[in-house]
Amino acid sequence: YTVEMDPDAASKGTYPYYMLKEIDEEPAVMRRILSNYQTDDQSHEFKIDTEILDAMQQADKLYIVAAGTSYHAGLVGATLFEKLTDTPAEAYLASEFGYHMPLLTKHPFFIFLTQSGETADSRQVLVKINQMHLPTLTITNVPNSTLSREADYTLLLYAGPEIAVASTKAYTAQIAVQAVLAKELGEAKHVQAAQAFDLQQQLSLVAAGQQQLVDEKDHFKELAHDYLADQPSAFYIGRGLDYDVSLEAALKLKEVSYILAEGFAAGELKHGTIALIQDNTPVIAFLTDPTTVGLTRGNIKEVQARGAHTMTIVSQALATADDQIILPDVDDLLTPLLSIIPAQLFAYYASLEKGLDVDKPRNLAKSVTVE
Ligand code: G6P
Repeated sequence: YTVEMDPDAASKGTYPYYMLKEIDEEPAVMRRILSNYQTDDQSHEFKIDTEILDAMQQADKLYIVAAGTSYHAGLVGATLFEKLTDTPAEAYLASEFGYHMPLLTKHPFFIFLTQSGETADSRQVLVKINQMHLPTLTITNVPNSTLSREADYTLLLYAGPEIAVASTKAYTAQIAVQAVLAKELGEAKHVQAAQAFDLQQQLSLVAAGQQQLVDEKDHFKELAHDYLADQPSAFYIGRGLDYDVSLEAALKLKEVSYILAEGFAAGELKHGTIALIQDNTPVIAFLTDPTTVGLTRGNIKEVQARGAHTMTIVSQALATADDQIILPDVDDLLTPLLSIIPAQLFAYYASLEKGLDVDKPRNLAKSVTVE
């Protein structure tokens, strides 16, 4: 089969690297998802095949299976599904799930998240689930890809070709498409949280907020220089969705700048990992959750007292005069779509400053078709 590629969309243009181009495209991808999924009428709903919604409504649990960055998007998606559809949801690493399958519920529904649609680890799970005749949906950027063809249903990401090995716009697209699906499933199930959630308006706010952030890239370049470029290691911390984003932020930094980075649940620091903090160790905290912001601020004080070089990435509503990066306000459920952008740019600029090949990090492939 052939993958349709718009040659303009796949050229770097004036950009030095695809990664920077693809980060810059994130607001446009949000708007493209909006226009591809919104209904033509004036209702605040989205177009999702009723067949998909019917199948999902039968489910007593949603199993999200993915690898790498897509798995991190799945962690965020699980929360969106639980909050907006009242259905238990959990994200699983494909390479683990296939061989150490948890006990399944009576009516599982499987969602495969994969930018390329070709990842072997995810595909081997799909093959097993198909043998069990259970319902499957693939959310992918590539129409007609293997995982799209082999699943019962497909939803597309509309992110345009992603060329840089480190995934950026596909991560935010996967979160946005899961939000669309969660909103519609929640509507179908008459869940109040979904009915009250104006996702069309929110995705417009997200696109505008992302634009504001990518326009601030010089600021993030300076911060990457001051905090990260010559450090051997760095930590991201957060709670809830902010913890999910910490994992992806750390993965980006590892992949393209080779800095040993980890994402930690902020409350777990004291149970072991705080031993890693030394003078000047960068600790970057995400603070977008009003229910835990005070606790995480306490954790920041604890690492500061051990010499950490701390930075905060905070939603506007929770910001104080001492915070470094203020995120434009969006609904608490969608903050990952904004908070990841500074971290993607940190990874990019740290890699650039170290003179590395940003788009083709050592040992990595864009699509891994072996287990
Ligand atoms: C590879 C890429 C990652 C990606 C992962 C899953 O390891 O280097 O960036 O997240 O595969 O890819 P998928 O296409 O399934 O999303």
